[in-house]
Parts: sequence; C-alpha cells; structure tokens
Amino acid sequence: MYTLGIETSCDETAAAVLRERTVLSSIVSSQVKLHEKYGGVVPELASREHLRNIMPVVSEALAAASVSLSDIGLIAVTSAPGLIGALLVGVSFAKATAYSLGIPFIGVHHGEGHILAAQIEHPGLGYPYVALLVSGGHTALYHVREFGSYRLLGQTRDDAAGEAYDKVAKLLDLPYPGGPVIDRLAQEGNAAAFAFPRGVREGFDFSFSGLKTAVRNRVAIFRSKDAGLDPSLNIRDVAASFQAAVVETLVDKTMLAAKETGVRSVVVAGGVAANSMLRKRMIEETEKNGLRLAIPGMSYCIDNAAMIALTGFLRYERGERSGLELNPQASKAL
Ligand code: KG4
Ligand code: ZN
Repeated sequence: MYTLGIETSCDETAAAVLRERTVLSSIVSSQVKLHEKYGGVVPELASREHLRNIMPVVSEALAAASVSLSDIGLIAVTSAPGLIGALLVGVSFAKATAYSLGIPFIGVHHGEGHILAAQIEHPGLGYPYVALLVSGGHTALYHVREFGSYRLLGQTRDDAAGEAYDKVAKLLDLPYPGGPVIDRLAQEGNAAAFAFPRGVREGFDFSFSGLKTAVRNRVAIFRSKDAGLDPSLNIRDVAASFQAAVVETLVDKTMLAAKETGVRSVVVAGGVAANSMLRKRMIEETEKNGLRLAIPGMSYCIDNAAMIALTGFLRYERGERSGLELNPQASKAL
C-alpha cells in the first residue's frame, strides 16, 4: 500500500510517498527565505505560503515516487502541535483529498513523527529505548517502552534547545534559523572561551533561558547603539561556548535516562539532532556506555513528511483512522 504523508506544521511544506515502510520520495519546500528578514517564522505568512506550495509539493512527491494520486491508499498528515493556520492547510488538504478518493486518512503527532523517523534508516530498531526530542518547539526525554507509549521523563521548563539556538543567533546578528549557522561557526571557535551556565543540573528537566540570558549579557558588553557589535568579540568563541553548554546538558541527561530506565538503545530526533557536535558526542557516549544509537540522517532530522507518513502507516496498521471531524491542535502532549 502507498501512503502519502503531508507536513505543514511550521515553515516547511513537505510531502512524501511510502510503499509500506519504504520511503519512495520525500519533498521539502522550505520557507526560510520568506521568514529570514523577520528573524523568525511569521505565522500568517507561513499559512499563505503553505497554501501556495501544497499542490506542487504533493505533485512532485507523487512524480518522484512514480505513482499517481489514485494509487494512494492512505493519507497521513501532521495534525498537532504547530502553528494553527499552518496545520489547517495540511489537515484540510488531507481531509478533502482522502474524502474525494474514498480512502482513509490519519492525523499524526509531529513529535511522534520525529521520534519514529529514526526507524526509516534503522528498521531493526526495536523497543524499548530512550528518545531525546530536540527541535525548535520541543526539548524532551521520553522512555519509549513500545510503539505508541511515550512516558515523559523530563522536558524544558522554558525555551526549546532549537529556540535557544535561534535566539542566540539573533543576539549575534546571524541569520535565521540559527542552528546551522552556530553549528558551523562553533567548529572554528574555542568552547572553553566563555563559562556559560548549564541550566538544571539534577533530574531530566531542561532550562535554556538562563543560558540565553548569560549569552545576551556577555554580548551586550560588546554592542553599542551606533556601531553595533564590536568586532573584537569573537562570535566563533561565543557560538562554541554556547553550543558546548547545550550539547553537554543534552548528552548527560540522555545517558542518565538510559541508565535509570535500563534501556540499551537511544534515539535522538528533531531539527537539533542535525547538530554536528551533538551527533559526535552522542556517538562517543553511547559507544562508551555500550548503547545502540539511532539518529535519523540529516534530511529526516529536520521537518519532513516521510516521518509523518511512516507514523501514520504504523498507526493505520494497528487499525487507527481519523474521522473528518478531526481538527488541528496548536499544542498537544505526546
Ligand atoms: O524539527 P525542526 O525542523 O522544526 C521544529 O519542529 O521545531 O527544528 C528546527 C530547529 C530550529 O530551531 C533550528 O535552528 C534547529 O532546529 N537546527 C539546528 C541545526 N539544524 C537545525 N540546531 C543546531 N544545530 C543544527 N545543525
Ligand atoms: Zn519538527
């Protein structure tokens, strides 16, 4: 059976086609250029852009998979959480298309999609495992005992890790999204240059707002109203020191979660899982602790529709369907 996946929860319009669990195509149209000049996603602009993009992106995904719409047996769509206007575009499209084709459709939780993305390239990944979900909207640790069972171990009390990257980039006059830019600059910086705070030390909760404030205070010393940022501030060192604080916390808590739950496998998912330092440190620490690590490839870390199609298909296999009364939800726990 062919599944068409749709993702429009934030600033990526994405569509993918799967044959059973195999990804045949995954098309992502990023709106980054549109939102860049505002330093973040403008919800109303995002909705309008999704509306413009959805048909061409779906057509491209179908063509790349060499199938036509009439071959599709199931439509899976992100229905929560996300920007409500953006979600509405995908959900309305999915409902209307499924209704007109007379096929089932299923609403998918974006966070579950990110976690299950690890299975696309690691089909043998069994249960249980600990999942670290780190994106622009989430930073949480889950104990995943079996399919569909996500016990929240801890989450951020304020900003998500990706949000912290984006805000720190803004402080340094760097473009949006900040994650990839800081990742790159940090590779040339000294991570020991600034001693930034590590947030919540105990337990599985995270906090990144203190770290962001510490960076802001440090940068403020080098900023003047007229001249902007003083070039004597080495932004590579700031980026590296900030990143070290984020990555150290994420890695330490994930290792502790694996130890306390007794699992042998770890999944790292979400946009921030694309971070080179996080990937490197996770590989090192899981190897040291004899754990199996599953991180999706870069294209499945950032928002995509293949992860949504896979999650929808796995739920469909268990007999789940959504009704036409399904409405998107801006926030929803996993
Ligand atoms: O999962 P995602 O595409 O969208 C959400 O569901 O939020 O994640 C986007 C977030 C942004 O905050 C972006 O700055 C961050 O992921 N990100 C990164 C990297 N690539 C993307 N953060 C750190 N390092 C990266 N290489
Ligand atoms: Zn996401």
